[in-house]
Amino acid sequence: MTKNKTLIEITNLTMGFDQRLLFKNLNMTIDKGDFLSIIGPNGTGKSTFLHLLMKKLTPKGGKVTYIGPNFGPKQIGFVPQTRNIAEDYPLNIFSFVGLRLYDNLIPWLTRKDKEKIQAALKKVRLTEKSDNLLYSSSGGEKQRAYIAQALITRPKMIILDEPTNGLDERSKNEVVEILKNLQVKDHVAVVLVSHDPDVIRKNSTKILQLNGDATFAVGDQTLVEKNNVEF
Ligand SMILES: Nc1ncnc2c1ncn2[C@@H]1O[C@H](COP(=O)(O)OP(=O)(O)O)[C@@H](O)[C@H]1O
Ligand SMILES: [Mg+2]
Repeated sequence: MTKNKTLIEITNLTMGFDQRLLFKNLNMTIDKGDFLSIIGPNGTGKSTFLHLLMKKLTPKGGKVTYIGPNFGPKQIGFVPQTRNIAEDYPLNIFSFVGLRLYDNLIPWLTRKDKEKIQAALKKVRLTEKSDNLLYSSSGGEKQRAYIAQALITRPKMIILDEPTNGLDERSKNEVVEILKNLQVKDHVAVVLVSHDPDVIRKNSTKILQLNGDATFAVGDQTLVEKNNVEF
């Protein structure tokens, strides 16, 4: 395995809405094995940055380049910030995780599909709970089910928007442990937005700090060791 192989190259990335610039001329790479934490107060452009990474938004300037040959949108798993699951959402965890596999012409799950679901459930430690209904699962279990769904296509990068928000200490640690294993054992690049100093200090190989006024900082742990950083 080549170490530090670049997956995404960000060049002079500039973004804003209307007259307001969120960041200007941002340059960095996201490499295989990275754990990139994006920090900054609300409204500074963290979610916007994630959407730019996935090319769901067009930047005002600069570009996001996927460095091939085997990296592209299909190799990115995404766990969005908010999900509204209706009270009567009928799916159990197993079926929910499998939803992303129904993108072909076969309207049922093959044996291979089921194996993929089992493997993803194992990674997030939900094997025992897979028959439970998603909507009645705990916050931590739901979050792990979302992660399993994002992992089903075996992505090289997983992007998560505030994945530990609202979770209690124990559930938070479980999620962090799962992400750490993905990064270290499976060499999946992890990119996340977090307001949690523990998550950021324990895990990050890189930190992007957005200030919301077009300025930013890219660095390592030393960035959050300063006392004046606002999470
Ligand atoms: N599609 C959009 N059109 C106009 N303004 C937007 C749009 N998306 C986000 N914004 C604005 O850009 C700023 C950054 O948003 P966002 O990336 O969601 O911030 P964060 O995730 O850091 O809280 C906010 O002021 C938000 O209102
Ligand atoms: Mg956000």
